[in-house]
Amino acid sequence: QNTTVKDQLQRPLRDLRISVTDRCNFRCSYCMPAEIFGAGYAFLGHEKLLTFEELTRLTSIFTQLGVEKIRITGGEPLLRRDIPKLVSMINEIDRVKDIALTTNGSLLSKLAGNLHKSGLHRVTVSLDSLDNDRFATMNGVGYQVKPILEGIEAASKAGMSVKINMVVKKGTNDSDIIPMAHYFKEKGHTLRFIEYMDVGNSNGWKLDQVVPNQFIVDQIHAVMPLEPIEPNYYGEVASRYRYVGTDTEIGLISSVTQAFCSSCTRARLSAEGRLFTCLFASQGTDLRTPLREGFSDEQLMDLISKVWSKRDDHYSEERLSNTIIHVNKPEMSYLGG
Ligand code: GTP
Ligand code: 5AD
Ligand code: SF4
Ligand code: SF4
Repeated sequence: QNTTVKDQLQRPLRDLRISVTDRCNFRCSYCMPAEIFGAGYAFLGHEKLLTFEELTRLTSIFTQLGVEKIRITGGEPLLRRDIPKLVSMINEIDRVKDIALTTNGSLLSKLAGNLHKSGLHRVTVSLDSLDNDRFATMNGVGYQVKPILEGIEAASKAGMSVKINMVVKKGTNDSDIIPMAHYFKEKGHTLRFIEYMDVGNSNGWKLDQVVPNQFIVDQIHAVMPLEPIEPNYYGEVASRYRYVGTDTEIGLISSVTQAFCSSCTRARLSAEGRLFTCLFASQGTDLRTPLREGFSDEQLMDLISKVWSKRDDHYSEERLSNTIIHVNKPEMSYLGG
């Protein structure tokens, strides 16, 4: 069986982003500020997390509704025990065409080999600075740059293609734009600049802390000439440029200055099994209860399909036109990027 569902804005369901844990060993100020995610913070208990079997079953059902791309996120997904096992379980689902994982890189040196053996070919590593002091401050736990670069190297050596995500915050790491661009151009890895977003309710986001991505392109182009490239696929999040005369590219994820909701085909599953149809949706739909109460595949498919067909989220466009600011948004660490 294969049904294609479209939402209220005629967007198909193509991607599933799975958060496997809401925990992280970092406390990035724009995501899990230490003041809020401190010792007393109530993370999800183990019994609340979907098991690998539950995740695989749900993923398989999602693929029958059109999902082809899977991204494993967190929190920090490599903190969840046996994550390579989950990769291999998801890989066995026929209709999954692409599986990738987003990580802070701290455990990558250790796990890269196993992840690749389990069938992971793509990994995205978050890194905001090459300067130890700034990086230590931004990750909130004093973590150094070197082990992350070693993790990137290990992933690359293991045979995975590696992208780097850099969140740019004005006055914090804008001076790292050129050094980062230069370093990863030499390494031949794609660096993506992400506009700082108002996800969650904890990071105290202000519009004037956003560095518009066009400004970044201009700045890099002045020292390392760039040319634009066509999107890889419909609804690609990042707009892409190539360094002239090379095969190396950069990506710009401009969800604040150039919202991309009109082609947003992404569903998100929280670690406790709630389905969200937008990164900024105030509520999700519980899939864990029906799953554990014995719903059949058909019943689950029907439920997911109903949720998707009702979907009309386009938060980043609304933010752009200033029509709405949601008050109760899910945290990025809970929902995944
Ligand atoms: P590939 O093109 O498959 O490599 O993945 P991607 O571009 O989706 O990359 P990734 O999953 O690393 O996403 C990068 C970042 O873009 C995320 O961590 C978010 O910060 C942001 N992002 C991704 N999807 C959305 C979305 O639907 N809405 C918004 N507002 N931001 C998003
Ligand atoms: N704005 C933009 N990107 C963010 N990320 C986390 N929080 C934010 C935010 N407020 C990024 C991380 C990671 C990805 C999962 O999302 O740096 O690369
Ligand atoms: Fe952890 Fe990633 Fe959030 Fe930083 S951005 S706190 S590494 S989940
Ligand atoms: Fe999709 Fe919501 Fe992001 Fe718009 S704001 S691109 S609808 S997740």
